[in-house]
Amino acid sequence: MELDEILGQIERELEAIKDENDLANVKIRLLGRKGLFSSLFENMKNIPQESRKEFGKRLNLLKVETEERIKKLEIDFEEKRKRKKEGASKIDITLPGKIPLVGKKHPITITFEEIIRIFTSLGFEVTEGPEVELDYYNFEALNIPKDHPARDMQDTFYIKEDVVLRTHTSPVQIRTMEAKKPPIRVIAPGAVYRCDQDISHTPMFHQVEGLMVDKNVRFSDLKGILTVFAREMFGEDVAVRFRPSYFPFTEPSAEVDIGCVICEGKGCRVCKDTGWLEILGSGMVHPQVLRNVGYDPEEVTGFAFGMGVERIAMIKFGIDDIRQFYYNDLRFLSQF
Ligand code: PHE
Repeated sequence: MELDEILGQIERELEAIKDENDLANVKIRLLGRKGLFSSLFENMKNIPQESRKEFGKRLNLLKVETEERIKKLEIDFEEKRKRKKEGASKIDITLPGKIPLVGKKHPITITFEEIIRIFTSLGFEVTEGPEVELDYYNFEALNIPKDHPARDMQDTFYIKEDVVLRTHTSPVQIRTMEAKKPPIRVIAPGAVYRCDQDISHTPMFHQVEGLMVDKNVRFSDLKGILTVFAREMFGEDVAVRFRPSYFPFTEPSAEVDIGCVICEGKGCRVCKDTGWLEILGSGMVHPQVLRNVGYDPEEVTGFAFGMGVERIAMIKFGIDDIRQFYYNDLRFLSQF
């Protein structure tokens, strides 16, 4: 066989290698004990004496070269295999990312903040009082004596005979007036408690109390402030109605209704076909309440109001079951 032919065969064999398996076979075919080079060396005895030495030398060189090329191919395949294995355990940056959960404000918090925003813009200050309250502040000072039937209106949690979980935020009216002199313009947001539970009542809920006391505060001031509030809260066009009512600590008293935002006054399940939704209780501070805190009702007058935050939130967001606020179901809470 001519050297050129041998070279050509080696070249073809090496070029045809596609994987490690091919490489192993080619290595045996070329360098193995019964391979190409072995048989070539064996056949050298048939080569004429004069050219045998030269041929042997060239063949040896070719063998070394071939061994080196095969070694290099082996290393390349090995490296490729390693790289593939490592890659499999690495982070796949082409996968879509996981979006981290971002916290949101509770709908009651959102509603609180909106109520506070509106009243502070009207010059009211935010104040607070205790949730565990003396019977005196929760009832007595608000003109609700022990035997008063109004105590039945509120299912009270008693801590001790004269200590209760406040049933409304109105005791903050008394604490505020005891602490300072008029002019007073405050709102008092916070939690209140009543032993009651159904689709519109939870044992703990929230109220915002309002109180304004000064010389010459009149019922028209109450109407003006609460009308502005209703419009800010529910929209410029909302209908507002003041309906005569009764609270022991205000006289006269009024409940404030807005035109039903669901049916726009036509009558539906939510407004019980009345076309109106009650949003708060209010009235002129009762002269006896003013006297209880040492004010002179001939000198100063005031109005007060109290609203249920859950109720406002239910109307604003169109929620029909108050208990939704407290299930802590993220599917519900993440909508706001
Ligand atoms: N405290 C009353 C209630 O819980 C609401 C109210 C507050 C009414 C202030 C009049 C004045 O129902």
